[in-house]
Amino acid sequence: MSNLIVLGAQWGDEGKGKLVDLLSDRFDFIVRYQGGHNAGHTIIIGDRKFVLRLIPSGILRPGKTAVIGNGLVIDPLALLEEVEQLAAAGVDVMSQLRISNRAQVLLPSHRIVEKISEAAAGRVAIGTTSRGIGPCYEDKAGRRGIRIADLIDPTYFPEALKQVVNDQLTRARAFGVEDTLDLDQVIAQYTAAADRIRPLVCDTAMLLADAMKAGKNLLFEGAQGTMLDLDHGTYPFVTSSSASAGGACTGAGVPPTKISGIIGISKAYITRVGGGPFPTEDLGEAGTAIRTRGHEFGSVTGRPRRCGWFDVPLLRYTAAINGFDSMVVTKLDVLDGLEEIKVCVAYKIDGVIYPDMPPTHRELALVEPVYESLPGWSESTVGISDWDARPQAAKNYLAFLEEKTGVEVGCVSTGPERMQTIRKAGSRFESLTS
Ligand code: GDP
Ligand code: IMO
Ligand code: MG
Repeated sequence: MSNLIVLGAQWGDEGKGKLVDLLSDRFDFIVRYQGGHNAGHTIIIGDRKFVLRLIPSGILRPGKTAVIGNGLVIDPLALLEEVEQLAAAGVDVMSQLRISNRAQVLLPSHRIVEKISEAAAGRVAIGTTSRGIGPCYEDKAGRRGIRIADLIDPTYFPEALKQVVNDQLTRARAFGVEDTLDLDQVIAQYTAAADRIRPLVCDTAMLLADAMKAGKNLLFEGAQGTMLDLDHGTYPFVTSSSASAGGACTGAGVPPTKISGIIGISKAYITRVGGGPFPTEDLGEAGTAIRTRGHEFGSVTGRPRRCGWFDVPLLRYTAAINGFDSMVVTKLDVLDGLEEIKVCVAYKIDGVIYPDMPPTHRELALVEPVYESLPGWSESTVGISDWDARPQAAKNYLAFLEEKTGVEVGCVSTGPERMQTIRKAGSRFESLTS
């Protein structure tokens, strides 16, 4: 039995969807454990493109079970939209998907409440995806949320919804947000959605416990990235869930002792969407070139992603938080043709080396990155799948990242498609995924 967590080592969009899709042929259950439809995981299979938000990427492999765990916040209408898109593409969603009865239900009023902090004058906007994610997790922590088990209970749901929505609208109005909602319409829409998802709802923690007893293999798919983790990320410029490895256990109801390995996905550079400090951001030509070549625009909101250089202190930090067994470096091909590739090897604040990850956004904003420059390569790495076929300078670059971060580079991605991937023979990555 092998149960593997695959998660983002940076600020999200590292290519988790591609990797999970690639690896899921070796696993029986693919499980999302946090987040909501703020995530956008793009998967390219031949000439077909899928962008998954709530449903685990493993759904695209016939016969695999995709599980939405208790740690998620689910907008049932967004979920059904995704179900329909997949069904139209021939995916047998109804037999492959299972949804936790303990996951939270995201309501349209959560998006209204989000305007209090994101759109109000004088407040620092986080630059969220405006999907209502934060307010839904607030209701969960405030013990007033509605869960999937409540949604599918027609005797309980309408009254519960009215109470929660009225509380939220009262709060919003107190802050000058005047949006209204047609409650009867919301109840009708959500009740109709409940009828459709009811056959998929179960106690997924028990489903996974039984699966493990039967010797099945589980793959946990992280959303967002460790630097967006509510506790460990660049607070308050984070999302509202536990995107790091610990979140997989609470968000799926799986014991930590059952986890066999943890793999961090990192771009060969780094990107960030939304506000917050970003020490290695490149606002010049190189950053623009990376954005253009890497198509770095948000898959949920279409916003341009901020681009910068690989950040070793950040990766060392996320490796420590998660305990990475191996690292996958994605989008190596995007760096093709750059004359010089910079890597931040240390942080300085006021001219003095800062040994850890600064705990506040104020300090992180003061960081001066200490860069080392490595020569780039002129050859194309697009689609390379042979470890030895990498240009010498690319080999040197990856070896440098491995040495500086202290984490094995067990796999390299050289294009968006499944087969545009290099696995390192004899690596820990290989032993965990084969
Ligand atoms: P996720 O949120 O971590 O799943 O990542 P996204 O899907 O939001 O963003 C990654 C983008 O890069 C997607 O458009 C992928 O198709 C694409 N991608 C993934 N790996 C590679 C790669 O190695 N090279 C290139 N050029 N694109 C890649
Ligand atoms: P995937 O899974 C990149 C960012 C938002 C914002 C912050 C909080 O595709 O990697 P939220 O709506 O979650 O309250 O926004 O988090 N963010 C992401 N950035 N990739 C994501 O998901 C993200 N999900 C949220 O841009 O800065
Ligand atoms: Mg994404």
